[in-house]
Amino acid sequence: MGFVEDVSRAAKIILEADAATLISHIDADGISSEAIISQAVTRLGIPVNPVFVRQLEPMTMKHIPDDDTLKIFTDLGGGQQNLLEEAGITADSVLILDHHISQPAPGGTEYFQVNSQFYGEDYVKCSAAGIAYLVARKLDPANTDLAKLSVVGNVGDMMARENHGLVGVARWIAEDGADSGHIRIRRGINCYGLSTRPLHICLSNADDPQIPGISGKPAEAAALLCRIGIYQSPSDQRVWEELSSEEEKRLASVLAEQIIANGESSDGFIAEHYFFPDEMEKTPLRNASEYATMLNACGRWAKPKIGEAVCFGDRGQKYREAEHMLRHHRSIIRELCEYIIETGVEDLGSIQAIHTGDKYPDTIAGIGAGMALSKLDTNKPILVMCSVSDEPDLIKVSMRTYEKVLRRGVDLQEVLVTAAVESGGAGGGHNIAAGAYIPKGCEHDFTRRVNELVKGQFAAGQKDR
Ligand code: C5P
Ligand code: C5P
Repeated sequence: MGFVEDVSRAAKIILEADAATLISHIDADGISSEAIISQAVTRLGIPVNPVFVRQLEPMTMKHIPDDDTLKIFTDLGGGQQNLLEEAGITADSVLILDHHISQPAPGGTEYFQVNSQFYGEDYVKCSAAGIAYLVARKLDPANTDLAKLSVVGNVGDMMARENHGLVGVARWIAEDGADSGHIRIRRGINCYGLSTRPLHICLSNADDPQIPGISGKPAEAAALLCRIGIYQSPSDQRVWEELSSEEEKRLASVLAEQIIANGESSDGFIAEHYFFPDEMEKTPLRNASEYATMLNACGRWAKPKIGEAVCFGDRGQKYREAEHMLRHHRSIIRELCEYIIETGVEDLGSIQAIHTGDKYPDTIAGIGAGMALSKLDTNKPILVMCSVSDEPDLIKVSMRTYEKVLRRGVDLQEVLVTAAVESGGAGGGHNIAAGAYIPKGCEHDFTRRVNELVKGQFAAGQKDR
């Protein structure tokens, strides 16, 4: 069926439910998807019980209650239908809203899902929070206030990365939010921290693309901002969001000249950003990418419900806890990234790999992999492995790569599903970012097998051209 029909069917399933259990993922997209559906369903007077899991895997299945509520899976489920079937969960009690590659249930149970992967080009770059929003809007057109959370989920899942802005249906959602006054769409320098970080810090952190003479050099960035009249003194603390449109243009043109003068491409130097005018200025809630980091900080550190409370509008006690989580998250991520770079990755030929043991929690392995990769060989996927604190017999695996590597034939989801099953584990995700759990002890053989599979994909990609 088509997308519109499937969204209508999802809304109908919800309307017919007496009560719902919402099972979601602990990252920004999972928390925002949950918060969207939870609010939309509660507004209908249907009671909702949220359950957050780090992933649907055999050990976390026990958190799904064995009752007669409708089980709504957001940001997971499509790739784990085997587990639902094994647990005896019937098709008529399930609704899946997902964007991961779907893997059918082996016994043939047909769980109904609205999955961005099913409807073609315009939908592929739309995360679970996008699907959740469209279902919420179908339930009640007054739910447009939730567009903001949808954009947070999409940006948090990097849906805006390749095109330097959201595209297709996810872009339509951002416009829908702009039309109702909840979102302000602005183009500007492609940096992180536009609402909270002093501009010179923001610029010195730029890494995609690098700004010659500025990246990694906050003092030089401050001197430049003084020279072009944006800072009064090097100790100024203005943030990008405070600049007038004339100042923004002046800054962008000076930086673009600097990149081009160094013989580099300024492609990707300007991106589209999504601001939330009804949030307090200079807080992480003012734009989608910083908001997403805050949700990740809560979820990845076992407090998804604090993130959920922030999405529901708490700006008191829970918000202060979220701020605390964010500070902690940032410092540990920075540490993990430095650890990977300083320890060094093992080059297996087609992939680069590292085992971080029990130094860092498994829930941040993927974030560390993504951030470290920008400082490593971006032509080869990275694989990070680590222990799982509450499951000593398991190893968590996270892989990340870049679009340019996908264009050479690589598909990390396919690689990890194959290698994990062969080693007695399970994997899933996307072509660009995938994860798996494997039994402890098989790491050496597993990484070699992953390397072999990626090597095969590179070779097949070469032949196709
Ligand atoms: O569960 P899930 O879909 O939420 O995880 C998506 C992961 O994939 C995120 O960690 C995100 O950073 C990563 N990703 C990426 N580049 C993309 C799309 C997703 O690194 N283009
Ligand atoms: O955990 P990590 O951030 O590396 O996950 C990358 C992607 O792979 C996410 O979209 C996640 O939902 C997915 N994944 C999965 N099955 C696993 C582990 C991760 O589908 N066992």
